[in-house]
Amino acid sequence: MNNETDTIGLLVGSRRKNSFNRQLASLARTMLEEKGQKVEMIEWLDVPFFSQDDEFPTPEAVQKVRDEVMGCNVIWIFSPEYNGQIPGGEKNLLDWLSRGLKPGADKSDTAVYGRKVLLTTAGGRAAGFGVRKNLSLLCKFMGMTVISSEGIALSPESWGSDDVMKTPGVKEMLEGQIDTLLG
Ligand SMILES: Cc1cc2nc3c(=O)[nH]c(=O)nc-3n(C[C@H](O)[C@H](O)[C@H](O)COP(=O)(O)O)c2cc1C
Repeated sequence: MNNETDTIGLLVGSRRKNSFNRQLASLARTMLEEKGQKVEMIEWLDVPFFSQDDEFPTPEAVQKVRDEVMGCNVIWIFSPEYNGQIPGGEKNLLDWLSRGLKPGADKSDTAVYGRKVLLTTAGGRAAGFGVRKNLSLLCKFMGMTVISSEGIALSPESWGSDDVMKTPGVKEMLEGQIDTLLG
């Protein structure tokens, strides 16, 4: 693993401005900072579509996000669920992060290998069961350790207002995950 620190990196899988999952990440950030934890938002929206033809030299936007990930020993992914799956943009980012840092590098020489990961979804009735199952498999495949996976089914009031806090239990879910993380 590279450049390990005690920083927790928060990564939002949605591109939507008022994303429910981004709202969860913002709340988690506040809660973690209140406990004295160092937190970074990992921004990735300018990462290009992956192609093996474009891996080296590493595109600047990819290098930037890899550096941010390598500055954190824990990554907390807040992911929407699209058709039971990982949204395309987020999967594209994870494909980039799964690749070696240098040509010919082995599987462990990536930005994500060996890092701990937490998964959270705000979504429909199944609370993101499908996306979290898929993310969990993918993260393990990339050499990460999933330490927590939780989701919340948004209330009609949240869907109607675009406000995640109108769903009961949001803060309690994040508190539980933070307890798991910090022991
Ligand atoms: C293409 C597409 C597919 C979706 N599929 C699902 C789904 O399988 N399960 C679910 O709970 N919500 C699904 N939704 C609804 C999302 O949960 C909803 O759009 C949510 O706002 C996405 O998260 P965000 O607000 O963080 O962007 C889907 C939305 C889109 C645009």
